[in-house]
Amino acid sequence: MISKKEYAARRKDLMSMMGHNSVAIIAAAPERVRSKDTYYPYKQSTNLSYLCGFAEPSAVMLLLPNRPQGEFILFCRDKDPLRETWDGHRTGPLQAKNILGADDAFPIDDIEDILPGLLEDKEHVYYSAGKDKAFDSRLMRWIDEVRNNTAKGNSNCDFVDLDHLLGELRLIKSAAEIKLMRKAADISAQAHCRAMRHCSAGQKEYQLQAEIEHQFMMAGASGPAYTSIVGSGANACVLHYIENRATLKSGDLVLIDAGCEYHNYAADITRTFPVNGKFSSAQAAIYDVVLAAQDAAIKTIAPGVTFDKANAAAIAVITQGLIDIGILKGEAENLIADGAYRDFYMHSVSHWLGMDVHDVGDYKVDNQWRVYEAGMLLTIEPGIYISADNSAVDNKWRGIGVRIEDNILVTKNGYEVLTDGVPKQRDQIEKLMV
Ligand code: GLY
Ligand code: MN
Ligand code: MN
Repeated sequence: MISKKEYAARRKDLMSMMGHNSVAIIAAAPERVRSKDTYYPYKQSTNLSYLCGFAEPSAVMLLLPNRPQGEFILFCRDKDPLRETWDGHRTGPLQAKNILGADDAFPIDDIEDILPGLLEDKEHVYYSAGKDKAFDSRLMRWIDEVRNNTAKGNSNCDFVDLDHLLGELRLIKSAAEIKLMRKAADISAQAHCRAMRHCSAGQKEYQLQAEIEHQFMMAGASGPAYTSIVGSGANACVLHYIENRATLKSGDLVLIDAGCEYHNYAADITRTFPVNGKFSSAQAAIYDVVLAAQDAAIKTIAPGVTFDKANAAAIAVITQGLIDIGILKGEAENLIADGAYRDFYMHSVSHWLGMDVHDVGDYKVDNQWRVYEAGMLLTIEPGIYISADNSAVDNKWRGIGVRIEDNILVTKNGYEVLTDGVPKQRDQIEKLMV
């Protein structure tokens, strides 16, 4: 759990990065209709979660650095016995103020009366636009009103991107965050082990999905951090395959990309294993190239090393590996320069991981690749995908898709793999599946 003290420190850190005479406005994520009057499970804005941990919709938080009457203001849903009977508990402004440590809290219905007044003398409004069009246009209207009010208005009031500042803060994980991410990684690793143990030909891909997600929730996770990918056979070559309705066939591989969300933090693991528990020689050849590429990419990680090194290492191993097994022909150096590997490896090897599965944080600083620092968390996930209708390669390779993905913490001296609770060596996978 994240303590009240840590939330306060996060807000203070953000306010210390904001300009003079400014306000940050962070809106809760909107609720989304799934069908008529039923809704998707609610997912709070990760920026709002990060700054105060409030989980309810229809809320807006304001941070006003150095405001004598208080720096943290919250608008949230008022208590409403009737709505609470139907939809569940509402914290209400009074309790929210105490629980979250806000200096003031008001009913969200009063926002039109209160918020524009708080903008009147501000020079900078920090805001993350584009996530909720309805709130974007309300805020634009309030700002316009302030700019056009000649008596009180401030025509210099400008918008500043809040995501950039929050990205910088969220990129380095605290000890409490690392603890939660370790737990998310452990639960997800156990779920992948369960899928390997329960896999058999004739099952549907969604039944393996059910095994994985069952384990997530039985272990205390809130559910999947993103839609689980279970792709058997050539479906493994579809990078964002989420249909998960095909039947598992003996002789095919199955690729599972799934991770749980635990107290708002995500894990993101991929394993690829044979449906019948034994890799064929063609599958093993591709698998070993991907595993070697992942190993080379992981080994680049250490404080001070730039983010691009891991992908370069993966590309070198994949290209050489594809030459060695006869899929690519030519000199490695030329093939890398020409991007020949892109027919088989078409995504990047890594992304930041945190409250969002593709977490916030810039990958480049001043147009240069970012340097790793202790406390950063990322994935390493190379793959080789050979399309079922790639007539340029021998028949035996067609329809094979392999990705191996782990979650890595940058430490003071190097790195730590958080997801090693699920095997990835071929012999260990085969042993687990017996
Ligand atoms: N699960 C999404 C990804 O691996 O990036
Ligand atoms: Mn990933
Ligand atoms: Mn993934």
